[in-house]
Amino acid sequence: MGGGMGTCCRNILDYLETDYPEIYKNTEYHIIEISSQLHEQQKIRCAHHVTNGKLKLHHDSFMDWKQVEQDECHVIAMEVLDNCAHDKISIDADGNVKECHVFFDKGKNYYEEVYLDCRDELIIRYLTLAGVIETSNTKTKFSPNFTYTSLQDKTKGAFTKLIQSFSSKSTNGMRSLLMNSIGGDHVFYIPTVQLQIIEKLQQNFPKHHFICADFDYLGTDESGESNRPLVQKKFKFMKTSNLLRKIREKRTLFLSPEDISSEDNFSIESHAFRSYLVPKGECDIFFATDFNIMQQVYSKVCQDQGGLRGSLVMKSSQFMKEYAEYENFTTKSGYNPLLKDYTNFSFFLS
Ligand SMILES: C[S@@+](CC[C@H](N)C(=O)[O-])C[C@H]1O[C@@H](n2cnc3c(N)ncnc32)[C@H](O)[C@@H]1O
Repeated sequence: MGGGMGTCCRNILDYLETDYPEIYKNTEYHIIEISSQLHEQQKIRCAHHVTNGKLKLHHDSFMDWKQVEQDECHVIAMEVLDNCAHDKISIDADGNVKECHVFFDKGKNYYEEVYLDCRDELIIRYLTLAGVIETSNTKTKFSPNFTYTSLQDKTKGAFTKLIQSFSSKSTNGMRSLLMNSIGGDHVFYIPTVQLQIIEKLQQNFPKHHFICADFDYLGTDESGESNRPLVQKKFKFMKTSNLLRKIREKRTLFLSPEDISSEDNFSIESHAFRSYLVPKGECDIFFATDFNIMQQVYSKVCQDQGGLRGSLVMKSSQFMKEYAEYENFTTKSGYNPLLKDYTNFSFFLS
């Protein structure tokens, strides 16, 4: 799912072809890719395996995938979840959930946020599965961890909600932040598309194993706001010191266009924005995944069918220790990037 430039796919298939030809012979690999540009890149980079009849490239959204795969299969999603859209919601001290809508204000030529009572079934479903709210007709006793009182649903009046204690052990889990927010509204960015992906896995790939890897922390949380996205734009800066050096070396005030346009004279730097309300397409917007909550949601949606659903969350270094020949990557100084880099990255395996 979301093969990017096709590098991971090509590496997996190259490896199987050379080291496990018997497995390669029986392998059927598909990439479902939403971006037309990346789909074209995959055609180039993975041409060999397409020609061998081992790889099929589909230009489609995973969410629109219609085919049902009845065989056991592995669904791989590397750095896909961080790009998925989230819903922004707020929960007030009484536990009322509101959903955030964004409008474009033509007068101000800017985006505006408006909070409305939550009616979105997907949001309610996510919050229930993640254990943030509980839907029932009877009043429930509160978890001693929270001071929230009875929460009458405003939209339908049909059920009572209870903010529950979170089982998440993660440091940036909602639980600790919920506790911080008592007494005021707390804003959450919740991974509703991630839930749709999990539901799609359950419906269309009933015997799947899910392998996904993503950022588990981006350092964006603030008091009163959980799971804020990282909003980044890359800027190209001219290295004026390079140009001045050239001017000195050439003893001239007039540099050639080639001297100036050379890539060496530019550096690419990322700038992070405070708000996600930036013009469409301008910035890279991505979110951290709370893997412990995801595991909880996943196990509820993909109930065990034939023992395939036992799932694991592993930090990147743990994953490398278990599955990679990581010793081969130790540098001369003793530094091992497979173990020491990507400390804010986790794997989910089912
Ligand atoms: C950050 S890239 C990761 C690429 C690759 N997996 C890797 O690790 O190098 C995210 C990829 O997911 C794709 N993508 C995002 N949403 C998708 C969807 N709903 N269906 C299919 N592909 C999607 C993007 O177009 C992109 O190729």
